[in-house]
Amino acid sequence: MLDNLANLHKQCFPHKPWTAADFADLKKSGCEIIASQNGFIVYRQTLDEAELITIGVAPDARRGGIAAAMLGIMEGELKKNGVKSIFLEVAQDNTPARNLYKQNGFTEIGVRPKYYDGVDAIMMRKDI
Ligand SMILES: CC(C)(COP(=O)(O)OP(=O)(O)OC[C@H]1O[C@@H](n2cnc3c(N)ncnc32)[C@H](O)[C@@H]1OP(=O)(O)O)[C@@H](O)C(=O)NCCC(=O)NCCS
Repeated sequence: MLDNLANLHKQCFPHKPWTAADFADLKKSGCEIIASQNGFIVYRQTLDEAELITIGVAPDARRGGIAAAMLGIMEGELKKNGVKSIFLEVAQDNTPARNLYKQNGFTEIGVRPKYYDGVDAIMMRKDI
């Protein structure tokens, strides 16, 4: 499973691929991972808040609703655990991801200037 995750991550983030060991460390540090053959989502709960750490779908499986479905599964799990708000950060120039989050109920709450190699990070939140 961890090798499949590393392979998927490399397809989604070719400039900053995470290894199977990176995913193992994330799990050890308390992150939850939901994954299928074509997609993954990583998040972490702290009390009644959660952070979406990353999400990715294999390029040839995109625009089929996989990311939206994974967000829905994550939200259902977090609701069961008493979470009230989900936070995330997304690069200002990542239009697919910004549209995904907006379409799934996240709103912009702030900006971290030049956070990703000179590109602003948009901070988003969804109350559930
Ligand atoms: C962002 C990403 C996870 C979306 O995955 P996906 O499975 O294709 O997304 P979905 O099919 O569930 O799309 C849901 C909505 O997101 C938006 N969206 C997704 N891809 C888009 C694109 N290429 N251009 C514009 N909007 C897009 C649309 O609003 C879409 O709804 P629609 O299809 O009804 O128009 C995928 O493009 C990806 O893995 N990108 C690389 C990794 C990445 O940038 N992750 C986010 C880091 S913050």
